[in-house]
Amino acid sequence: MKIYSYKFLLVSGLMAIGSVAFSQSPLYKNKSASIPSRVQDLLKRMTLEEKVLQLSQLSFGNNTNANNIGNKVKNIPAGIGSLIYNSDNPVYRNQMQKKAMEETRLGIPILFGNDVIHGLRTVYPISLAQACSWNPQLVQQACAMAAKESKLAGIDWTFSPMIDVARDGRWGRISEGYGEDPYTNAVFGVASVKGYQGNHLSDSFSIAACLKHYVGYGASEGGRDYSYTEISQQTLWDTYLPPFEACVKAGAATLMSSFNDISGVPSSANHYTLTEILKDKWKHQGFVVSDWNAVEQLINQGVAANRKEAGYKAFNAGVDMDMVDKIYIENMPQLLAEKKITQAKIDDAVSRVLHLKFQLGLFDKPFATVLEENERVLLPASRKLAQDLASESIVLLKNKQQMLPIKSNIKSVALIGPMVKDRSNIMGSWAFDSKDEDAETIWEGFGKVFANQVAFNYAKGCDFDSTDESGFQAGIEQANQSDLVIVCLGEKKKWSGENGSRSTLALPAIQEKLVMELKKSGKPIVLVLSSGRPLELVRLEPLADAIVNLWQPGVQGGSALADIVKGNVNPSGKLAVTFPLTTGQIPTYYNMRPNSRTNTQGNYKDISTAPLYWFGHGLSYTTYQYDSVKISATKVKKNEKIVAEVTVSNTGKVSGKETVLWFISNPACSISRPMKELKYFEKKEIAAGGKATYKFEIDPMRDLSFVDATGKKFLESGSYFLLVGGQKVKIEIE
Ligand code: NOJ
Repeated sequence: MKIYSYKFLLVSGLMAIGSVAFSQSPLYKNKSASIPSRVQDLLKRMTLEEKVLQLSQLSFGNNTNANNIGNKVKNIPAGIGSLIYNSDNPVYRNQMQKKAMEETRLGIPILFGNDVIHGLRTVYPISLAQACSWNPQLVQQACAMAAKESKLAGIDWTFSPMIDVARDGRWGRISEGYGEDPYTNAVFGVASVKGYQGNHLSDSFSIAACLKHYVGYGASEGGRDYSYTEISQQTLWDTYLPPFEACVKAGAATLMSSFNDISGVPSSANHYTLTEILKDKWKHQGFVVSDWNAVEQLINQGVAANRKEAGYKAFNAGVDMDMVDKIYIENMPQLLAEKKITQAKIDDAVSRVLHLKFQLGLFDKPFATVLEENERVLLPASRKLAQDLASESIVLLKNKQQMLPIKSNIKSVALIGPMVKDRSNIMGSWAFDSKDEDAETIWEGFGKVFANQVAFNYAKGCDFDSTDESGFQAGIEQANQSDLVIVCLGEKKKWSGENGSRSTLALPAIQEKLVMELKKSGKPIVLVLSSGRPLELVRLEPLADAIVNLWQPGVQGGSALADIVKGNVNPSGKLAVTFPLTTGQIPTYYNMRPNSRTNTQGNYKDISTAPLYWFGHGLSYTTYQYDSVKISATKVKKNEKIVAEVTVSNTGKVSGKETVLWFISNPACSISRPMKELKYFEKKEIAAGGKATYKFEIDPMRDLSFVDATGKKFLESGSYFLLVGGQKVKIEIE
């Protein structure tokens, strides 16, 4: 490894002084000058080595992620462009930043990035759960709160949101995105970009967002992480790119190139996606960082013979910053000398990085404000948001004979299962800066919410994954003594997230067996499931009277669940991902393309072809009735809008929040389209006995058009259908 010492930088700096005339106060230090002029002024003062360091990122700080092995401060060159800051303590950042500001010739601040995925210390529900809330406003607020906590921890940049459309629950990273639908990923992606970045990147509590993983990573073969992805140009354009395009338009500052290989051309060496689409067509002004070691991994992927070749392939494709593998640091000067890369491209990449540093105000305020921990993390307002978001993310999957909320005749409840007193797995993956003691367990949540109104009996029953059944007996005894049994099952946090794939969506056999044993008590069974993926419930579902999907809800999960079980909160979550009946049904997702034969043909011979729960499924404690859809016109020209409206009545006894999902279908098009495509959704609170009108303004070019395999949007004349609340309304486009 080549380490650039202070002395080296000083010498190279002095060499540069010969070519640039300095004034006492250089333009780039002038706060009132425009950002482009500051960037240009600084760029022309920089040596090649200084530029190369700006295009490099190393890791720094505590490290609990096996994938991210930290470097010691002393080994980090002061002129490094960016650091992955694995800490929530601003003091270390400031020490490192001091080194950058004082020990480099030009005083270019370091950009500190971190994986703030679903919160930093205040852990919110995992992103997949957040999507089930259908409440992008709440997600935006949570991201803004996470940004504030991050900024006060010394973090300027988060590697979030992940907007990889994912349709294979075996892939552990399905937990990190917003589900199987491109539009849902786009809407929640935009909400989080707005939350993190605020109105201006220069605002005190804004941090830069990073869209990941660009692009197609969610199509990993067999759900295995880091795998090849077979993606046709058509699918790239109609499924994987739309969320990225929407978030780029919303102003996302950066993107991360992904680990996958798109049909033979790895994403991190893909000129078409990184440059032709992102920078040329979409005119993205920010920069692209590679994923961890993704440049070097081009060798594993079979497109580079050595690190040097990997370096110029990634750089020429459009990867501006190299995450941790030091390939740019070690090879760029020589690659330039050999004309494998150009000075113009280096300058373009450096300008992009500097531009963001100026936008964030780092040159003018390089150091983080240092507050006591209790003044900046887990503040009551953040916990409240975490609880609100968890409440809205929970999905009531089944509720036979209105088993929930629990009735007043239930005096004692057995809380059984490995999740009941868990305070670690309930946080989900990518919660490296959280502390277990920050989380509220299910047990604590029930104790708090029910006070002493119900007696709770506890037994763990079994572990998450073992063959030890010795705990079953205690569980059965508690069940026998109680009026109701709530079994809290689930996944460990490492079973999802990065490198967290599983071959099956089923819970380990021991957990299923526990429920079978408890069922023998004859007591009603409520299943509570905590997972980072959709689960295979084919054996469990028939045993349960009610099923509550808690996901991995974060620090306030216990109270959020208890409020729903008690009826203080009416569940309003709906699935953003389909639950297949069995793992063998994968892929199954609501927006599949139609089959050539319908009805009884093409189905599985052994099981039903239908999934257990479709995208959009989610029950409530009240009932909603949809009036007939009203539309302003049934036939319009391509440039004319249509207003569709549906009034929904709350016909039950409690108030509730109902999300109306508006789909379209276009059964005859020159390119076969998905059977249904979500185009708009809205969530509103409706009081018991009340009504609310939901409106969808259809702009045909935006909502009815499709895209071809070159990315060209087109709108054909013909029949389209609007699908909402079980209704189907025909629209003609002239
Ligand atoms: C690897 C992961 O794929 C990516 O999502 C993450 O942001 C980086 N490591 C940095 O930790």
